[in-house]
Amino acid sequence: PLTGPREMFARAYREGHAVGAFNVNNMEIIQGIMQAGAEERAPLILQVSAGARKYAGQNYIIKLIEAALLDTDLPVVLHLDHGQDFDICKSCIDGGFTSVMIDGSHLSYEENIAVTRRVVEYAHDKGVWVEAELGQLAGVEDEVSAEHSVYTDPDQAVEFVQRTGCDSLAIAIGTSHGAYKFTGDAKLDFARLETITKMLPDYPLVLHGASSVPQEFVEMANAYGGKVGGARGVPEDLLRKAATFGVCKINIDTDIRLAMTATIRKHFIENPGDFDPRAYLKPAREAVKNMVQHKIRNVLGCSNKI
Ligand code: G3H
Ligand code: 13P
Ligand code: ZN
Ligand code: NA
Repeated sequence: PLTGPREMFARAYREGHAVGAFNVNNMEIIQGIMQAGAEERAPLILQVSAGARKYAGQNYIIKLIEAALLDTDLPVVLHLDHGQDFDICKSCIDGGFTSVMIDGSHLSYEENIAVTRRVVEYAHDKGVWVEAELGQLAGVEDEVSAEHSVYTDPDQAVEFVQRTGCDSLAIAIGTSHGAYKFTGDAKLDFARLETITKMLPDYPLVLHGASSVPQEFVEMANAYGGKVGGARGVPEDLLRKAATFGVCKINIDTDIRLAMTATIRKHFIENPGDFDPRAYLKPAREAVKNMVQHKIRNVLGCSNKI
C-alpha cells in the first residue's frame, strides 16, 4: 500500500540499512523496480522529479504507480524529488504524494529555512513527510578547491532541523548527481557523516547522487556504440557503510538510465531487424529489475525489511 516513510526509516535507522529511492519516468522503470521489490520483499520509495512530471505528466505517473499498487502488498512511498519551490510541493501534496522534498540548497541559509518551514507547515497539516537539503552536492575535487566548505556543516544541520521541523535531511558529504562523480579517488567524508549522525540522533539522513555507475553497464554501452567513457560512481562498499550511520534513504537514478540504455544499445546491435518497442523494452525492464534487486540485497541491505 501507499505509505509515508516514517516506519521504514525508523527500522532502517535501528537496523543499519537504507531504503532505496528510485527515480521513475515511465511504465517499464516502475515495473522493473516493483518486480525487484516483490522478489526481495523490500520497502520501496518511488520518486518523481520535475523532469519526470514534465516527461510523463503528473497524472500518468500517479496512475501508473496506482496500477503498481493494485498488484502488491509492499509498502511504497510516492515522493517528490528535488521540489524547487513551495508551489510544486503543494501540487504534489494535494495530488496524493506521501512525501516531498523541498530543495532550497541553492538558496541562502535563511531563505532555505524560510521555504522549508513553509512547506513543512503545509505538509504536516496533511500528514505528508518533508525532506529538505542543506549543503551542496559536489565531488571531492570541488570540495578541496572550494574556499568555504559546500559540504553540510554539522552545527548548521542541527539548527536547520530545529528551525524548520523537516522530517529528514539530505546532506552533502561527497556524492554528486550524474554519471561522472569522481575524477580522483572515490571517497566520502565519513567523519562528517559520523558527526552529523551523533548530533542528530534517531534522525534520518538522505544521500543524493548515490548511483554506483556499474562498470558492466558503462562497458556494455561503450561496446555497443555509446560514449560514456569515464563514467564513475560511488563504490558499493561506501554506500553500504553510509547506511550503517544515520543514512536511511539512498537515491538512485543514473544507474537505472545506464542499465536501460546499455541493454537497449546491445539489443539494437544484436537484433538490427527489430522495430517492435516491446522487443527492446522488455530486456531493458529486466535489466532495471536485476540492477535494483542487486542494490536492495547487496548494497542497501533492505531485503525482507517490510
Ligand atoms: O537528481 C536528479 C534526478 O536524477 C532526476 O533527474 O531531473 O533529469 O529527472 P531529472
Ligand atoms: P544519481 O544521479 O547518482 O543516480 O542520483 C540521483 C538522485 O540523487 C536523485 O535525486
Ligand atoms: Zn538528487
Ligand atoms: Na541507516
